[in-house]
Amino acid sequence: MRYQNTPVVLWSNWRLKTAITKTFISTNMCGIVGYIGNGNVYDILIKGLHRLEYRGYDSAGIALVGNDGNLKVYKAKGKVSNLEDYCKDKSLEAGVGIAHTRWATHGEPSDCNAHPHYSEDGNLALVHNGTIENYKVLKDALIQHGCKFHSETDTEVLVQLIEYIKVKNNCSLVDAVREALNQVVGAYAIAVIEKDHPDTIVAARQSSPLVIGIGDDETFLASDATPFVEYTKDVVYLKDEEIAVIKKGEPLRILNLDNRESTIDVKTLELSISQLEKGGYPHFMLKEIFEQPITLRDCIRGRIIEGGAKINVNGINDNKDIFLNAKRIVIVACGTSWHAALLGKYLIQDMCRIPVEVEYASEFRYSNPVLDDRDVVIAISQSGETADTLAAAMIAKRMGAFVFGISNSVGSSIPRETDSGTYIHVGPEIGVASTKAFTGQVMVLTLLALGIAQLKGTMPQEKIAEIGEEVLRIPDYVEKVLKLNDEIEHLSLIYTYARNFLYLGRGYSYPVALEGALKLKEISYIHAEGYPAAEMKHGPIALIDAEMPSVIIAPNDHLYEKIVSNVQQVKARGGSIIAIVTEGDTEIKNIADHVLEVPAMPECLTPIITSIPLQLLSYYIAINKGKNVDMPRNLAKSVTVE
Ligand code: AGP
Ligand code: GLU
Repeated sequence: MRYQNTPVVLWSNWRLKTAITKTFISTNMCGIVGYIGNGNVYDILIKGLHRLEYRGYDSAGIALVGNDGNLKVYKAKGKVSNLEDYCKDKSLEAGVGIAHTRWATHGEPSDCNAHPHYSEDGNLALVHNGTIENYKVLKDALIQHGCKFHSETDTEVLVQLIEYIKVKNNCSLVDAVREALNQVVGAYAIAVIEKDHPDTIVAARQSSPLVIGIGDDETFLASDATPFVEYTKDVVYLKDEEIAVIKKGEPLRILNLDNRESTIDVKTLELSISQLEKGGYPHFMLKEIFEQPITLRDCIRGRIIEGGAKINVNGINDNKDIFLNAKRIVIVACGTSWHAALLGKYLIQDMCRIPVEVEYASEFRYSNPVLDDRDVVIAISQSGETADTLAAAMIAKRMGAFVFGISNSVGSSIPRETDSGTYIHVGPEIGVASTKAFTGQVMVLTLLALGIAQLKGTMPQEKIAEIGEEVLRIPDYVEKVLKLNDEIEHLSLIYTYARNFLYLGRGYSYPVALEGALKLKEISYIHAEGYPAAEMKHGPIALIDAEMPSVIIAPNDHLYEKIVSNVQQVKARGGSIIAIVTEGDTEIKNIADHVLEVPAMPECLTPIITSIPLQLLSYYIAINKGKNVDMPRNLAKSVTVE
């Protein structure tokens, strides 16, 4: 990632004196695929787009260069299936192609704004993930030079600029791309193809991900490796400010923006095709909810040894002194990962007696934070690409803090940019609503807290061993909780048409309430608020009536008696109550309208278990309402635009 706060003067040839201050760069999701080889280009690209559709689904498009030397660009608003319909009667023969599924930032989702964009003279086609911050100034300058624009996107500027430089300097595509990118401020992953050279793709990245897959006589490129996992396991992760030249029959070349050759670092992909399919479930979200016994087993594996007595998290073992001497821990994250972060605070404070602050990454990065080298900053991100979280981590690093990443996506930006960290190992999460990644994050934070506590001696060893043993049983508890599926499906029918929900919890159950409310909001579009149960009487209690159900997370913990009173308060105002309680509960059972029972376990482990019925409840309510749970409106898997 490039951090420059000094002004950059734009292309001097144009005497553009506009100074732009480079700031931290933000990227959004969207999917890019490219292919060059002897396979069926169209089929490979379309299949790849389907795999990436979770990253954005405002529109989709494809550009193909046929062996006849024709550049064909087809685009359609909406999902990839619309593009397929549109392409049915089109000529699809090609030796090279690029494709895109969009998550719009500049210009409405429409056929015209869909990618690929092509240059005025029809020679080049380009796909782009990211945002070009100085597109306006570049666009005005290009217009003065006679360029015509057809879309409202920032992206179109890139392709017109590349073509303009190529013609003006009579240079190769790669030289034109390099010169153009030196004028650009913003975030990009791009792929460009050229009508006259049907054997080449030029690709580049700055802050947006791009992976190259190297096969036998064929090369793939994509925003993540999912489109080509069945073809090759050999991958190269392009780094910031690198340009890849992918040419048929020649080895991959990577240059940087100064035109120096970079070394090619081929990594082996650990991803299987079965992880990317629905495996008989109607939706990825349901599959991912039901995978949790396995994903949690994977997440725990090797991290608790000696039957529960020894916590063995590599990131801590390797940085013992840092964790021992940390004067404060700050956790930064967004969305669901922020809810996991809040649980991290409860866990670490409770077990390690280190003060913990939890910040929304988007606020933290602009809050002029006070940090020094005795602070540890933990950045949590499922995708590892959320721009606000990445920027927050980079600021912390620059200020001298030790930055520890927790991510799911191997090789993504946060793992690459942080000082150390750990993966949650729950496999690819495709459903836009995060489920298995949340429980994986909470599991890792629990192990981290236990590990630091063991290191610092802030908890008796017997207690650690007792919790450790229970951690090993968590996958079995999850399996048991998943048996509530039918009951929850039935229950969901009663509440499908409620217009508002309150989610209440205390202590460890408060972040669970926040997460339950977010899940419902994002996939069923029902308004839901998560609240600390005791805080409700300071305002939200006014909302309660017969139309306003409350979901109350009330396992048998040290705040149980307190939350019983909160349950009574809701009941007294005529509100209906769904309560998540511990097996054998009698008190709340007598007050609540519906109870869902979960197994008994140590208090600090309850969030992993109590969050699962809430995932199922939101899933079924959304299904009853006919919503697309895997691709909810307006969202992308990781909404990372500022
Ligand atoms: C989760 O259901 C959401 N889609 C969203 O809040 C997400 O957790 C957030 O955008 C952060 O993403 P990350 O974990 O990939 O950084
Ligand atoms: N900023 C570009 C657009 O709005 C790219 C968005 C994307 O990454 O999908 O078209």
